[in-house]
Amino acid sequence: MVMEKSKIKELIAKIEKLPTLPVVVARINAMVQNPKTSAREVGAAIATDPSLSARVLKMVNSAYFGFPSQISSISHATTILGFNAIQNLALTATVFQLFRDNSGDELFDRRRFWEHSLGVGVLSRLLAEKTRYADKEEAFTAGLIHDVGKIVLDQFVHEEFKAVMGLVRANDMLLYEAESRLLGLNHANVAYIVSQKWNLPKKLQEPLAYHHAPGLSKYNPQLTGIVHLADILCRALKIGNGGDNKVPVLDKAAVADFKLNASDIEQLKNVSEKEIEKAEVFLEML
Ligand SMILES: [Fe+2]
Ligand SMILES: [Fe+2]
Repeated sequence: MVMEKSKIKELIAKIEKLPTLPVVVARINAMVQNPKTSAREVGAAIATDPSLSARVLKMVNSAYFGFPSQISSISHATTILGFNAIQNLALTATVFQLFRDNSGDELFDRRRFWEHSLGVGVLSRLLAEKTRYADKEEAFTAGLIHDVGKIVLDQFVHEEFKAVMGLVRANDMLLYEAESRLLGLNHANVAYIVSQKWNLPKKLQEPLAYHHAPGLSKYNPQLTGIVHLADILCRALKIGNGGDNKVPVLDKAAVADFKLNASDIEQLKNVSEKEIEKAEVFLEML
């Protein structure tokens, strides 16, 4: 029972009506794409939203960063972390806030979904370090929100998504394949629509849109490859669960430049456990 074309259009129209990012985050996303923007301006924009500021400060003061003393203002946090990191934190805090409904149902376990997301975030950051990607915090954010399309489907087209999950269970197949088969589009396509609507920087859009087909990435193949690999590693290591039990095939060409060997992967496995523990504060924010 594949969806008809008119239904797919309807589905896309529904997704396009999604909750928008708060004005302040949309403004920050636009600001950081302008090279003339200063860190002070970004900090000032965040500070106009007290609840967002509080959530960002909570993350800044968490074990994840492990600063020796309390950071009590956004402007101080911006000076220490730089405005890219602050932008990523504001985005993370907001995405979590938008999708905080943690109830889920027996078919799609949101708690385990967020554990998968966190694992991919942490592994993406570690891989960014190993492959000398310019912005480690950006890699963390990309990994953390790479599967946001699943939450969108679960929340906004719940009945259809339930049918998808049923197909995954019955045939033990990959979630994105079941989505494509039943809905005519998958969570990565959905994430692309959403990330455009949210005005996310292009370099963050591609890892969301192409983490299952990294060869399509043109603008930021390195980060797309990083998230692709981190997703597969997370599944292989059984960290959380993104909704299915299969491990997709690795696109070797997409990660060839990383020049990782077996001992690198072993080392990643060992470090990731401790790093995930430190990042668990993000799950507490749900
Ligand atoms: Fe995915
Ligand atoms: Fe995933």
